Amino acid sequence: MRYLAILGRLPKISLAELESLYKGVRYLGGNLATFESSAKPEIDRLGGTVKLAEPIKGGPEKFLIEQNYTSKYIIGVSDYSKGASARKSQALALKLKRVLKKYGMSARVLDNKSAELSTATVYHNQLGEKPGHYELIKINNDWYVGIGVQNINAYRDRDQNRPARDAKNGMLPPKLAQILINLCGPLKSGATVLDPFCGTGVVLQEAILMGRRGYGTDASERIVGFAKKNLEWLGKGEFKLDVGDAQDFKWEQPIDAVAFEGYLGPPMSQPPADIKMKSVVADIYPLYYHTLRNLSSQLESGTPVVMALPAWFRPDGHYRRLNILDEVDKLGYNVIKYTNTSQEDLLYFRDGQVVAREIIVLRKK
Ligand SMILES: C[S@@+](CC[C@H](N)C(=O)[O-])C[C@H]1O[C@@H](n2cnc3c(N)ncnc32)[C@H](O)[C@@H]1O
Repeated sequence: MRYLAILGRLPKISLAELESLYKGVRYLGGNLATFESSAKPEIDRLGGTVKLAEPIKGGPEKFLIEQNYTSKYIIGVSDYSKGASARKSQALALKLKRVLKKYGMSARVLDNKSAELSTATVYHNQLGEKPGHYELIKINNDWYVGIGVQNINAYRDRDQNRPARDAKNGMLPPKLAQILINLCGPLKSGATVLDPFCGTGVVLQEAILMGRRGYGTDASERIVGFAKKNLEWLGKGEFKLDVGDAQDFKWEQPIDAVAFEGYLGPPMSQPPADIKMKSVVADIYPLYYHTLRNLSSQLESGTPVVMALPAWFRPDGHYRRLNILDEVDKLGYNVIKYTNTSQEDLLYFRDGQVVAREIIVLRKK
């Protein structure tokens, strides 16, 4: 079946995530894509998709009537077509209410503050979750019904309620951790995901929640203690932690995938001067070069390695990347290419942030 994905803030990264997991990904422009899946996709496992929907044939009126819901429906319309507006979406939703009324059914219509309902509105009204609660999604002449929306509360809890936090290193957003793990491609249940810069354990936490085994190492004994506390708090899944320098540590097998956000260098609130930029890059580059070399000697052929490495916003509006990609071939890796996403697009950033993350997806040759 073909599903619709409403992509998150950085749609090209979301597309790469979908392409890693599903066949037939088609980019429709903006924040829209469709893909093929034989099983119903789970929104909670995708970091880069904010809503999922499935097509409805015969239009939204027929769909709603066929549900034959005996209590009051709760419905809302999101229009992702060109030229859509809050007013038009609201009018479509009210029309659906009138049609239902003709059939003796009642409905409450959600307010459209914009042409599309926000993820918060969809989530709080449990559209697609409960019988009778529907988000009807229009794209030109095609209609879809929402089947899942990102659980904003669960992400916030996973991010903010962990007992051991390390302000100095910053926190990897759980959504980005999910994206890094998914970019490894489909992994069998119980597969071991190694994070050689595990920090407080966000990647490991997300890997465990996705049914994988988490294996984390970090150079700081104190931080490994934090990861242990956090994973015990999570209270599920299997994990292993060790203290070790990623540049020369000998990991225990099996390692089915490697996913990590590395050391990002000193925090910065202003783009650094050229000379400072040079010294930061000169400091950090060898860390990743040696880590990739060390990993390469221990990974089986075909093992995915997905990294988020620092890239710095420069006064000329570009990002200074580490350019580690120039070396990966010699170090024994292939770079994974995507249909809809170029390496340029694989930059995870927020406006105003100096230190962004460049995502690099490799596979051991
Ligand atoms: C940006 S943090 C990773 C954050 C982590 N993903 C999290 O969510 O908490 C970088 C981590 O790299 C660790 N680190 C720095 N140099 C290292 C090395 N040579 N080997 C292993 N870990 C290292 C630091 O101790 C720190 O915990």
